[in-house]
Amino acid sequence: MESREHWSSRNAFILAAIGSAIGLGNIWRFPFKCYESGGGAFLIAYLIAMLSAGIPLMILELSFGHHFKLAAPSAFSKVNKKFEWIGWWAVFVAFMITTYYAVVMAWGLNYTVFATTQAWGQDTGAFFYGKFLNLTNGHFELGGIQLPILIALIVSWILIVGAIWKGAKTVSKVVYVTVFVPWLLLIVFVIRGITLPGAMEGLKFYVTPHFEKLLDPGIWISAYGQVFFSLSIGFGIMIAYASFLPKKSDIINSALIIALSDGATAFIGGFAVFGALGYYATMTGQVVTEVLKGGPGLAFVTYPAIINMLPLSKIFGILFFLMLLTLAVDSAFSLVESLASALRDKFGWGYKKSNFLIAGLAFMFGIIFTTGAGLYWLDVVDKWLEVFGLSMIVLVECIVLTWFFKIDHLRRYSNDYSEVKVGKWWNYVLKFYVPIAVFALVLTDAIKLIRDGYEGYPNSAIIFGWLLVIILPIIAIVISLIKRSVEEKEAEIYIPSKAFVKDIGYKRFNEYLKTVLISGLAIIILTLFSKFFSVLTVLVTPLITLYIFLALVGGAVYFAKISINEGNRREIWAEEVFEGKK
Ligand code: PHE
Repeated sequence: MESREHWSSRNAFILAAIGSAIGLGNIWRFPFKCYESGGGAFLIAYLIAMLSAGIPLMILELSFGHHFKLAAPSAFSKVNKKFEWIGWWAVFVAFMITTYYAVVMAWGLNYTVFATTQAWGQDTGAFFYGKFLNLTNGHFELGGIQLPILIALIVSWILIVGAIWKGAKTVSKVVYVTVFVPWLLLIVFVIRGITLPGAMEGLKFYVTPHFEKLLDPGIWISAYGQVFFSLSIGFGIMIAYASFLPKKSDIINSALIIALSDGATAFIGGFAVFGALGYYATMTGQVVTEVLKGGPGLAFVTYPAIINMLPLSKIFGILFFLMLLTLAVDSAFSLVESLASALRDKFGWGYKKSNFLIAGLAFMFGIIFTTGAGLYWLDVVDKWLEVFGLSMIVLVECIVLTWFFKIDHLRRYSNDYSEVKVGKWWNYVLKFYVPIAVFALVLTDAIKLIRDGYEGYPNSAIIFGWLLVIILPIIAIVISLIKRSVEEKEAEIYIPSKAFVKDIGYKRFNEYLKTVLISGLAIIILTLFSKFFSVLTVLVTPLITLYIFLALVGGAVYFAKISINEGNRREIWAEEVFEGKK
């Protein structure tokens, strides 16, 4: 049997996964959620969601993919034939998301061109909704295709297909650009953002904690939802990406580096956004709350208006939209690769066939989003897939893999390979805590949507959201019943005869958790004291900011350093354990 495609290096894998995770969600979703949900208090909820669910799930998906070395559907069918459909469901949701994610990318392309002449003029809102999108009055008034968007969509698809031309092999090269370029640009925008006059006004909104908001369950739901969306969990992506890992690869430390880098990027990105918003509010004599918008409004209306006011505005404009583009492209192709690898595993297709079929179909579906009613449809599809696709899949996946599969076997398997190891607590968190948390999340959102509707949209439009979430699992079941056209691939499970590092692996994780917990407690105590000694009050916000920064950025650096230091030891170990086997 030909051997499975592999990442060219560990760095390539980690960057690809980080690239998938870091996307538009970090730049426009995270800061907005943060403001909406209590500023610095939300950051704490976010950190807790990251540690209690995001990281355990990331470890779960990477372990699962590494263990069976198969894309999601085939991997689930190894657990039990009955479960294959769950994998298909995940990759179909991924596919549906690509159909509009590519359109947002296309807007970014259009705007990169507009930035050269600042074609958006002074009234950026009128330009975006009017001239550019030609937004109609409702879902069923399509108002024709916007040609520039359609052309940009074609270009976006060419870029996406180019980036995954030969699967992991091509992606291994592309990710050095699509991860480092946006990181660099983000740093530029953070520095620019926080040095603008009035920036402090904006930053205050970002980080000042409103602790009373932590009592509102809505905050926690936002925090967990944001963590899942941002980590690209529940789409079969991380399972597919981990399935391309060479046998000897580390699992758990990679999961930690990926998850913490994603959180760190979101947190740091917030400074760029809120600094600029503070500046804009100051210059236009408004309050920050008035200028703050989530979603496309932030990137395509508010930011262009801010760019207009900056010195060197043309350059900043081009760089900003280049940043959006490079942020989006690796998320977009990871979504495609999730389905593509599933088709290759089941039907033995080649890269060209799977890539072109997916790109062609997704492009065709995407055309609806290039019409004057596009934004309305995008909004419905996005909301319903997020709640009833993504979250439901995380829930089902978690239950199946912990209750119908030997979760402790998976834990020991991953620990054997990893520089950082997890204790038994991981089993219990995934078995009990995460399913309950996610269930609460889905239920609350579902009740809200059923009771209040969504954005005042008519039921005739909302029904499409429901149809979509019902149809996807049905198609998934049908396709799982189709006979595979290639001989069933054997899972190449290989248990190493000797674990890579021992107790120190547990110690590393525990030390990190202990530090985060103890300093978190210290901050809580200080906050309580500050109620009595008002001199302490000024300390609270900066300390929380520093704390979150260290927990995310410091954590990512700490674990990345371990991975660098262990390089040699890993080679020696792999040689002993795998002798001759790759
Ligand atoms: N994680 C990406 C973001 O934050 C979005 C995404 C979701 C990408 C799902 C792939 C899959 O924007």
